[in-house]
Amino acid sequence: MAESRPKVWVSQPLFDDIVERLHAHFDVVRVPDVSEHDASAIANALREADGALVTLNERIGSDAIADAPKLRAIANVGVGYNNLDIDALQARDIVATNTPDVLTETTADFGFALMMAAARRVTEAERHLRAGQWHGWNFKGLLGADLHGSTLGILGMGRIGQGIAKRASGFDMRVIYHNRSRLPADVEREFNASYVDFGTLLAQADHLILVLPYSAASHHIVDAAALAKMKPTATLTNIARGGIVDEAALADALSSGRLASAALDVFEGEPTVDPRLLAQGNIVLTPHIGSGSLATRRAMVALAVDNLIAALGAGPDAGHPSS
Ligand code: DGY
Repeated sequence: MAESRPKVWVSQPLFDDIVERLHAHFDVVRVPDVSEHDASAIANALREADGALVTLNERIGSDAIADAPKLRAIANVGVGYNNLDIDALQARDIVATNTPDVLTETTADFGFALMMAAARRVTEAERHLRAGQWHGWNFKGLLGADLHGSTLGILGMGRIGQGIAKRASGFDMRVIYHNRSRLPADVEREFNASYVDFGTLLAQADHLILVLPYSAASHHIVDAAALAKMKPTATLTNIARGGIVDEAALADALSSGRLASAALDVFEGEPTVDPRLLAQGNIVLTPHIGSGSLATRRAMVALAVDNLIAALGAGPDAGHPSS
């Protein structure tokens, strides 16, 4: 009797022409309706699977992992992997992979776009115009803050943080950063970036951008106390994970004028956005589209497919798991 092929679960309709490559190696099971991705639907899908290709939308917790006896690999389409219970996966020697590098430049582009939009009040100005409130060139209307000549603070100086620093040099910005560990001197020189402690970063940044991974240590690291240390003229941009910012404290800082403006692409309770944030005019809000260029989303899926093939050890064309 022919040996049955490994079974892999593909959690979302991604790019069919890329996902197609899995069919050469595995029996592919799809659950096309994203709305079905509740905990029990995920557990059911994983129970029979040898591997899975999932996105940030699927939270894979310890219960589902414990209940998936054959599971050997999860390929996450995304650089962040806080949707996976890594400890539970490691305890079972289940390989988890992500898709770094391919999204670095696209996400850095978008972080810069959001920061500029917050500084120059782009979406606020557009809402003003669309609401018919523009009655002629207004000398003092909707005045924003400059990027050029200002100090950019980067919290998290990994690949994307470095991509942002690279862009900042074209805008003649002074770049300061804070990171778990200080970068080697030659890398600091390359990005023209100076290491400072967290308090100095908050106090000196005209524009602060968050690009660090989410973990217990970074949960609400930008809280009321941190916001109180920032300049009242500053902007805050978050393209990392929503849980890094205490959203209630941010809404207070924006409404009281403690902070000039903010831009968020990520939210603690995605896809729900705290109504206190929605109520603020001086904030740019986007639905987690940092890596969302067509080319990059395709590259992320292609890498995740390679990772899954390699991790399950299927065939001579297997790629290499990224982690
Ligand atoms: C990621 O890959 O973690 C990004 O947040 C997707 O935009």
